[in-house]
Amino acid sequence: MMQKGIILAGGKGTRMSPLTKAVNKQLLPLYDKPLIYYPLSILMLAKIRNILIIVNKGQKEQYKKLLPDGKNLGIKISYQEQDKPNGLPEAFKIGEKFIAKSNVALILGDNFFYGQNLTKTLIRGTKIKKGAKVFLHYVKNPELFGVAKISNNNKILKIVEKPKNNFSNYAITGLYFFDNKVVKYAKELKPSRRGETEITDLLKKYLKKRQLNAEIIGRGGSWLDTGSIEDYYQTINFISTIENRQGFKIACIEEIAYKNKWIGKKHLDNQIKFYGNCNYSNYLKKL
Ligand code: G1P
Repeated sequence: MMQKGIILAGGKGTRMSPLTKAVNKQLLPLYDKPLIYYPLSILMLAKIRNILIIVNKGQKEQYKKLLPDGKNLGIKISYQEQDKPNGLPEAFKIGEKFIAKSNVALILGDNFFYGQNLTKTLIRGTKIKKGAKVFLHYVKNPELFGVAKISNNNKILKIVEKPKNNFSNYAITGLYFFDNKVVKYAKELKPSRRGETEITDLLKKYLKKRQLNAEIIGRGGSWLDTGSIEDYYQTINFISTIENRQGFKIACIEEIAYKNKWIGKKHLDNQIKFYGNCNYSNYLKKL
């Protein structure tokens, strides 16, 4: 069965209010493109072409103005709205029909990944047949994330969501690969103390069955968070530094589609017309 992907772009973005009062966080600019382009690019680099974007109630039309159906990217994009944010595992209940019998990757709409060999790492994730896979990254402030303790040979020993006591610096990043059981497991979850179901509780179900694999995104790779306003601007600085030095764009979804040979020149031209006269279009012209 073909691998599918879900981008969870709901949430209130409370920590970035008032910026997020009228506009969904994932539609805000992250340097020169909307935030949603970044997680979308990650799924596309993993060669995932059937993608569900979960958005807040009433926001579907806004997203469709930007990313209608995926045809000009050689992919298929569909949307579903979430009534209220009841936790990340909700994605698998909302997406049950979409997932059908496939394995599925989930990426959180505000997660940013960058680094050498990232594509290979991502494609390895799509190869799992059974179980689940997470990506860990060493951070200074693990208390803000889901955290995993690992053994010498990178086996996960323990998982805690937002731990009060520091027992490991390995954060569980917001990109997950699951087998088809995830839908069933997601339905079994009970809300945590913060009133939502937790992705880490879902991961624990796989851990218990010894079916949870981990891969580390090392120091040469970057995982940045765009949760708070400081993190958001740091990520923008990071992107602008790299793009201005190299002249290559990060997360140019048309470039990825073109290099994957999913689209040709005609589609690129369509996108140039769609964006109009801007810096981004000039970049597409150079491809
Ligand atoms: C969520 C997850 C957490 C994960 C993080 C990654 O946290 O609950 O396990 O490490 O995303 O971004 P939240 O953004 O809900 O605080």
